[in-house]
Amino acid sequence: MKTDSEFCLIDETSHRVTVRFEGQELNLREGENLAAELLAMGVAPFRRTPVSGAPRNPFCMMGACFDCLVEIDGATRQACMVEVTENMEITMPSVNENSDA
Ligand code: FES
Repeated sequence: MKTDSEFCLIDETSHRVTVRFEGQELNLREGENLAAELLAMGVAPFRRTPVSGAPRNPFCMMGACFDCLVEIDGATRQACMVEVTENMEITMPSVNENSDA
C-alpha cells in the first residue's frame, strides 16, 4: 500500500506554524490553504461518512463537495476554505448517530 503523499509543496520558504490533526502535531505553512497543506503532509482521511464510515478526502478544493469537512477548534468547517493559522486544533467531525445522510 502506498503511504507517501502524491502532493508536494511548491514554495518551501513560507513561515511554518504548529497545528494538531487528531492530536498529531504538524508544521504547516501559515496563511496557506489548510486542505492543501494537510494533503501535502499525507493526512488521510479528513472525515468519515456518518452511515457507512467510508473515508473522505478533499475532492473539489473549491467549497462545493464538502468532502473536506473537519472540526477546527470545535467548529465544523470546509478545510479547503480555511487558511492555516497557528495552534489550530483539527479533528475529524463527530458523527451524528441520528443522521441518515
Ligand atoms: S474539497 Fe470540496 S468542499 Fe472542500
